[in-house]
Amino acid sequence: MANLTCVLFALAILIFTLITAIYKPEEDPHLLQPTFTSSEHAIAKTREDYLNLTLLTPTGLSLDDVASNVSTSGLECVGSWDQPIDCTNPEVFHLMMRVTIETFKDVHFYKFGKPVRGTNSSTCDMAWRYRPKEGNADAFNKDYRRFVISRKEDCSFNVVGVGEYHTGLNARKPKKGYQRGFEKMNSSSKQVKSSAGVLPVVGGIADGELHVVNSNKDLFSDGKKYLVYTGGGDRCKSMNHYLWSLLCALGEARYLNRTFVMDFSICLSSKYTASKQDEEGKDFRFYFDLKHLMELGSVMEEGQFWFEWEKWERRGGQGLYLVEDFRVTPMKLADVKDVLIMRKFGLVEPDNYWYRVCEGEAESVIHRPWHMLSKSRRLMDIVSSIASRMNSDFDSVHVVRGERAKNTELWPNLAADTSPNALLSLLQNKIEEGRDIYIATNEPNTSFFDPLMDKYGTHFLDDYKDLWNESSVWYEVTKKLNKGITVEFDGYMRISVDTEVFLKGKKRIETFNDLTSDCKEGINVCPSIS
Ligand SMILES: *[C@@H]1O[C@H](CO)[C@@H](O)[C@H](O)[C@H]1NC(C)=O
Ligand SMILES: *[C@@H]1O[C@H](CO)[C@@H](O)[C@H](O)[C@H]1NC(C)=O
Ligand SMILES: *[C@@H]1O[C@H](CO)[C@@H](O)[C@H](O)[C@H]1NC(C)=O
Ligand SMILES: *[C@@H]1O[C@H](CO)[C@@H](O)[C@H](O)[C@H]1NC(C)=O
Ligand SMILES: *[C@@H]1O[C@H](CO)[C@@H](O)[C@H](O)[C@H]1NC(C)=O
Ligand SMILES: *[C@@H]1O[C@H](CO)[C@@H](O)[C@H](O)[C@H]1NC(C)=O
Ligand SMILES: *[C@@H]1O[C@H](CO)[C@@H](O)[C@H](O)[C@H]1NC(C)=O
Repeated sequence: MANLTCVLFALAILIFTLITAIYKPEEDPHLLQPTFTSSEHAIAKTREDYLNLTLLTPTGLSLDDVASNVSTSGLECVGSWDQPIDCTNPEVFHLMMRVTIETFKDVHFYKFGKPVRGTNSSTCDMAWRYRPKEGNADAFNKDYRRFVISRKEDCSFNVVGVGEYHTGLNARKPKKGYQRGFEKMNSSSKQVKSSAGVLPVVGGIADGELHVVNSNKDLFSDGKKYLVYTGGGDRCKSMNHYLWSLLCALGEARYLNRTFVMDFSICLSSKYTASKQDEEGKDFRFYFDLKHLMELGSVMEEGQFWFEWEKWERRGGQGLYLVEDFRVTPMKLADVKDVLIMRKFGLVEPDNYWYRVCEGEAESVIHRPWHMLSKSRRLMDIVSSIASRMNSDFDSVHVVRGERAKNTELWPNLAADTSPNALLSLLQNKIEEGRDIYIATNEPNTSFFDPLMDKYGTHFLDDYKDLWNESSVWYEVTKKLNKGITVEFDGYMRISVDTEVFLKGKKRIETFNDLTSDCKEGINVCPSIS
């Protein structure tokens, strides 16, 4: 009878998302982005600094990254309160992560491993990587513990206890860690022929920037080899996430001496769009210099590749090597002879992020080819125009406010330290009165900085709106590139330009270090390199 009641209660459709712990190389809005272009030696150092700061020091995982109350049990639990706990159940995984984050408050978590069965049917073992919040420890630490789990009457799970340090022995990586990955590769890699039905249509790219491969030439006969990544959870994530993943793929292709087959269409995350929605179909060339990438690296457009591949297959050509597990390292693929290696990524985050290929053992072998990326010439033209309007003689100040200034828990002094009066007294000793200053900021209301006008000539990105308005060259050119459809000057372009103009300043004052003693990533998380 109790069973029947439970069935009735469970007559709801349970939609669940498997959002697992996420390591996000995420940037806050308007953080200085890595900058790629300028060949000026003067800023080379600065550029590296930013790369390290914005990309290599993620803030770690927080409760927000873990879905709070995913319920996937429902029907399955009916009459099974005494059944063994399935450690692979996502609900159990989430619960364990949540309890861990709540229990160990003095550390930052970077990655949780999937739980595995412990010693008996009510225990699960889970491993994670972490760094202490205090201090500047560079290395990640590992822990794995044993969790005792029970079921509550309402079918949900409950953590009864968490074991001591390093008790979750079953979650510990086996010593010969990648031996296992290799076996997996062996069983999951097959010679497969792709079915013509799923091949994407050839993308027509009109712009002269694209070196369209001469179709008469056989792409596959002269020993050329290719690497392609398909699927994955990277789409529509932040631009830093996109780059971190793309550069991993490019790094692997370079390591394997293969041409990377690339999708030139980007999904722009909602954080940069006016619509506040993720927007598909953004052209790589809006943001980056494709010609530069093609000159320095070996890449090919996906649509055209598949078109040629299909022709090749029709003629009896073959040689597709499929890899479905990111733990198969690039080193393991070095001896693969097949024409095409296809890495396929699944649906479950974060295991389906491209950049995971470059983690672990691969980290020291695969180098991200940052030099292949530079910003789009069109954006750099705007940067040059802005600089020349200030006679290329200005100092710059980067003022981070926005959400961070409001979060006094993590950034207790930021709001005060970046207030106009604090700025004035700080700049007093650093920048001569009467100078032009360019203020790169995420503060939307620029009249906030009005008090500075008494002493300096202040300039903001939006003072130069005409450089991308409807009568601008940029507007014309991008519209043409975009097959006649107007292109929005979006949030990422703004950050790109703002950053580059900032870097052209003679004296550059940064928020963190220069203006406030608060740490960039919040309290006690100052990057060790600064
Ligand atoms: C950036 O990080 C790399 C690797 O950790 C290090 O070798 C390099 O010196 C760092 N660059 C700067 C400017 O700190
Ligand atoms: C989580 O629980 C809260 C309140 O208990 C509820 O409002 C919210 O919709 C739940 N979220 C999910 C994803 O079930
Ligand atoms: C499983 O082991 C844990 C701790 O080792 C213990 O607390 C629990 O009672 C055991 N459960 C069963 C069903 O044996
Ligand atoms: C696994 O790889 C070995 C050589 O590395 C090969 O001899 C064996 O046949 C492969 N097994 C399968 C199932 O493909
Ligand atoms: C790639 O090419 C270089 C130079 O030709 C060679 O030294 C290297 O071993 C090659 N790497 C792989 C994985 O084939
Ligand atoms: C902008 O800031 C100024 C000065 O802080 C303030 O007087 C004004 O009301 C603000 N405007 C808006 C739209 O918030
Ligand atoms: C764009 O800027 C130019 C130069 O300031 C100006 O003449 C023109 O009216 C602006 N166009 C629009 C549509 O705002």
